[in-house]
Amino acid sequence: MRRLTDDEFEKFLTDGYVLLTPEMPDSMHDHHYAAAQSLYAKAALLGPERVPGTNHLQLLGDNLPGLVPRLTELLDDPVVAGALTSLLGNDYVLHPHCFCHRSGAPDQAFHQDGNLPWNERGHYRSHRPDWAMIFYYPQAVTRELGPSEVVPGTMYWTRNSEKPDGTWYAGDAMDRTLDRKVLADDNFALRDTAIAGSVDKLGVPELGRRFITVPKGSVLLAHYDIVHRGSRALPGHPDRFMYKFYFARTREPVGPSWNNRRETPELSRVRPELRPVVQHIWSWCRGEVPEPESGTIRCPADADEATRIAWAYRAGEAARSGDATALAALLDWLDDDAEALRRTAGYGLRNAGAAALPGVMDAAQSPRAGTRRYAAFALGNASNAMSPEAAQTLVDILDSDPDDLARSNAAYALGHLARAAGPAAGTIADALLAHVLPGMEPVNTTAGGMARSTVRESAAYGLLQGAVNGTLSSRHIDRILDEVVFRDEDRYVQGLLTEALLRADLDAAQMNRLGRQLASRRHFTEPDAA
Ligand SMILES: [Fe+2]
Repeated sequence: MRRLTDDEFEKFLTDGYVLLTPEMPDSMHDHHYAAAQSLYAKAALLGPERVPGTNHLQLLGDNLPGLVPRLTELLDDPVVAGALTSLLGNDYVLHPHCFCHRSGAPDQAFHQDGNLPWNERGHYRSHRPDWAMIFYYPQAVTRELGPSEVVPGTMYWTRNSEKPDGTWYAGDAMDRTLDRKVLADDNFALRDTAIAGSVDKLGVPELGRRFITVPKGSVLLAHYDIVHRGSRALPGHPDRFMYKFYFARTREPVGPSWNNRRETPELSRVRPELRPVVQHIWSWCRGEVPEPESGTIRCPADADEATRIAWAYRAGEAARSGDATALAALLDWLDDDAEALRRTAGYGLRNAGAAALPGVMDAAQSPRAGTRRYAAFALGNASNAMSPEAAQTLVDILDSDPDDLARSNAAYALGHLARAAGPAAGTIADALLAHVLPGMEPVNTTAGGMARSTVRESAAYGLLQGAVNGTLSSRHIDRILDEVVFRDEDRYVQGLLTEALLRADLDAAQMNRLGRQLASRRHFTEPDAA
């Protein structure tokens, strides 16, 4: 495997992406280009008006390594696997959702994807490299073919997502009011103004934009939360395909997993507002606790998103080191009317560690769902596995909070506690299992044409973390085997739990049951393209 260098790793933390050149031969890219053409030809035969009960997404998403088996050679390529290991550590997992995109006529405006499949939201944006995605281009991409466009450095910032009625936006369009008709219009001046305006809505000055024009066979390895868009393909040009896969970390870092030589990043070349964030995440990925900076000042409430997040990181580290003023300021914002301030506090308090636990556990009892959601997120550290009270706070939210996004954030946070053995490991696994059992959580989305529960998908992620780290018991594994994984109608719960079982410590009888179930599912029938 070829690991990322310090410069490449820092570029990822700073810009949110690196470009990779897999070692695969040119002929393999041709194979994957032809496979994408074939998938789209077959997908055109599907749809409810042609075959009742079908849609074209059945071929273009989620089963790509099954339909195009040689894609596994991309996923196992030494450059691709080495870069993913560098970011996500050993034992990272391919998420069951994937998609083959084809550039089309309308432009997209800038947005961040929802963090569950089909643009759903299960938790707040991670900042830490718990997730990564790859975009693989089996042909060269020029401006005419409709390249992806990214806004470097934006993965730590976002827009407010709460709606007045207590629900939330699932994904984050940078401009939620943008008229989509403009994006398909041939008035390019109007379109360009709208797209540029969508970046400005983030409220962070001096952002750059970068079209991903690349040689054939390139891979863009991107932070899951980078602001991006698909651009319009011009007529009369060949198809531009992009295979998208994404991956999850399963282990807490105990040391660098990239080709690390330097102790610290070269912050002089990093935008000032990003320096505390890059420094913190660099240290976290080395398995270290970052040193606090001196002189933490209070942040104005009307500061822009980048300034607030930078302050949250400095204040969080100060609070962890015993700065009561910084801790009080963060806790004050955690229960503010303004969502942007609660979000800021959530990131700072998550970094503050044990010092923040009493205050965050108090906030978890707030009558405001928007405070309980961020409190749950802020408790999601592996080190909190040592605190039975922190674990129980999250279990209580998962068990009884009426708010779906609070429950989903609690399940996600419990997954991070499940990375470390602690006194509440059994309680955590029991709670996650209880909420992944079929029928325990109501369907709360049909995005992608599939009735699903975002809470169950977060609970499955949590069980996966526990399975890899050995914090599930044999009884938990039995119940996942017998009651969930092969009976589930949610393909993402099924996929995550299958990965969980493959990586858990199964005994011979359990391995046999898993093997027999997998063997019985090996057939897949494609629609006939003839
Ligand atoms: Fe997207």
